[in-house]
Amino acid sequence: MITCKGKSELLKMERAARIVQETLSECIAACRVGVTTEEIDRVAASGIASRGGKAAFPGYRGYPKTICISLNDEVVHGIPSSKRVLKAGDLVGLDLGAVVEGYFADAARTVALEPVAEPVRELVETTHAALLAGIGAVVVGGRIGDVGAAVEAVAKARKYGVVREFVGHGIGTALHEEPQVPNYGPPGKREIIREGMTLAIEPMFNLGAAGVTTDADGWTVRTKDGRASAHFEHTVVATAQGPVVLGFGRFSAGSAQTGAPGFHEYPLPVAV
Ligand code: MF3
Ligand code: CO
Repeated sequence: MITCKGKSELLKMERAARIVQETLSECIAACRVGVTTEEIDRVAASGIASRGGKAAFPGYRGYPKTICISLNDEVVHGIPSSKRVLKAGDLVGLDLGAVVEGYFADAARTVALEPVAEPVRELVETTHAALLAGIGAVVVGGRIGDVGAAVEAVAKARKYGVVREFVGHGIGTALHEEPQVPNYGPPGKREIIREGMTLAIEPMFNLGAAGVTTDADGWTVRTKDGRASAHFEHTVVATAQGPVVLGFGRFSAGSAQTGAPGFHEYPLPVAV
């Protein structure tokens, strides 16, 4: 069942998403050579708690930490560890979820530590561009397949591998709700997008082939060919005025403020 959310529910999701975005910014500011991913997990936990939210990931299917941090060839679901020390040139994917009054938000960004190899910089910028393209297809009356097709088209232009085993998803009173939102087409297929549908759109692009494998820890997903992977995610609501990205004050008690989906909601630090 796909649930469409009303104003009071969306306002809770907006608050959860705001907490996620502000905390992600703090986590990115903490990404420096010599810092452990465990330390960034602590930044994430205190960032969410100090803003009055609850972390969404701890205990989710037994997940042991607050944030997922996926380095280099890791695609998603990397587990923070005191043994993982950030080094120059690392690609760092940060994925975070929060809950406010039972309503969830989920978002991810990828940054790289200088010196960043040029193909990696392009991968990061293109994956973010694909997120915005997918968001632009969150149009009432359109189809979920249109979102995937928009994302996939951006990858194809660069011959990136598009991860197929993991997909975006509905979100609301659970972290993962129906429908699934693949990062590939065809357009015009799958569910009709209706007003109030809330979707986590999350392209995962690989510099090489699309294939991924999961580590023995049961969580860490990495590329089979060992090449780099990038991931961006937003929690988005379909409104009569167009797509609204939650967490940036664009959804307020007054109305949904929309604009071109190509806006930069936050300074995008491809490299830090
Ligand atoms: N954003 C991730 C997803 O939608 C959440 C990771 S699940 C957790 O799949 F187990 F890490 F919490
Ligand atoms: Co997600």
